[in-house]
Amino acid sequence: MVIASDVQAIISHTNKVVYLEDFEIVFVKGNDVKFFSAAGAPIKKEVVTITWTADQVEKAGYKHFMLKEIHEQPRAVAAACAPHVDLEAKRVKLSDVGLSDEQLRGIERVFIIACGTSYYAGLAGKYLIEQLAKIPVECDIASEFRYRDPVIPPRSLILTISQSGETADTLAALRLAKQAGALTLSICNVRASSIDREAHGHLYMNSGPEIGVASTKAFVSTLALLNLLSLYLGQVRGALSVKDEQHALEQLLAAPSQMEAVLAYDKFFAEAAQKLKAYKGILFMGRGINYPIALEGALKLKELAYMHAEGYAAGEMKHGPLALIDERMLIVMVCPSDRNYEKTLSNLEEARARGGRIISIGTGDNHALKAVSDHYLSLPKAEWNVNPILESIPVQLLAYHVANAMGHDVDQPRNLAKSVTVE
Ligand code: M6R
Repeated sequence: MVIASDVQAIISHTNKVVYLEDFEIVFVKGNDVKFFSAAGAPIKKEVVTITWTADQVEKAGYKHFMLKEIHEQPRAVAAACAPHVDLEAKRVKLSDVGLSDEQLRGIERVFIIACGTSYYAGLAGKYLIEQLAKIPVECDIASEFRYRDPVIPPRSLILTISQSGETADTLAALRLAKQAGALTLSICNVRASSIDREAHGHLYMNSGPEIGVASTKAFVSTLALLNLLSLYLGQVRGALSVKDEQHALEQLLAAPSQMEAVLAYDKFFAEAAQKLKAYKGILFMGRGINYPIALEGALKLKELAYMHAEGYAAGEMKHGPLALIDERMLIVMVCPSDRNYEKTLSNLEEARARGGRIISIGTGDNHALKAVSDHYLSLPKAEWNVNPILESIPVQLLAYHVANAMGHDVDQPRNLAKSVTVE
């Protein structure tokens, strides 16, 4: 018998798990185990078989779990998509989500609630759901949402995102929303975690165990699921033509093989890290759905390299951050060829004119970006809904290699825990 707060800790011993609910009591003696309610009455508990295996929690030759998990991302995206795609019809079909089409059709507003990296995935979800399903979306940090007396109108969907499914603030926000009578849907990686158990509907990242404290594969899996959810909402509500849905889906399904190509930037960042770590700070910028990737890139750098970094909407530069820029500041501009491209390019030129050093991330062989950048990183051509999945890889690799070059414990950054089960 092993008692743990997280299944990851015990996979090497067993795949049979019993989840305790709040206030339940367990009595363990040798191989004997008994469960009781808070009132002391004996209760019967279900033994759940988990599908994760012990070899998934090995480093498999990688120096760190984080690097292994970065490289697992193409598979993670494919695994997140697989259950929800009707390959014959080339349509999205959310399977086993636990919410009926009628419930989904009735939604008039979506609130996305999460913390940290999951919150940034949620921000990207706002762009996806609004554009593809035409439903207004608010995205909130769980610790803000739960304490601001949120107004949750009838016919709202509360979408909570959590890799661990145990984040205290996200769980509390979910409970608050349920008390207010809202329909809830969770996106989790850990099945049968508290958030997964308590939400009405469920989507699974299917990323496999994520050990590194810095979230990577769970992030891209969530971006894939948010694509599928948006497309399905668009489909059932009649907000999206079949042709547009099929095109967006086709693009999404091409992402895993495109991601393999982007992983080649591992070498670039491994070599560049010594120089990159010398900057006084890094400003990550992007517009539209790429803005959350800028925020995520900055978070990764802060948590792993302990370096000052900020994520900014590129259009906001003139309202303050331009003053930060000089030759000791590195700018990472996420600038794919989408509807915001021209505007973002012009923001990049402004940064360049102030002496900033530039790494730009764009689509294909882009001469304009090359001309204004110290380094240009080319991504495969994709639609706007898929670009963030591809862009995530270089910003993760940047943070990983800079932190590694600084000699930091990449998998267990100081002051941080993988599951934040307290406020
Ligand atoms: O398990 P969750 O997705 O709820 O965790 C939320 C955050 O604590 C988490 O994403 C955190 O920001 C990561 N360490 C970032 O890499």
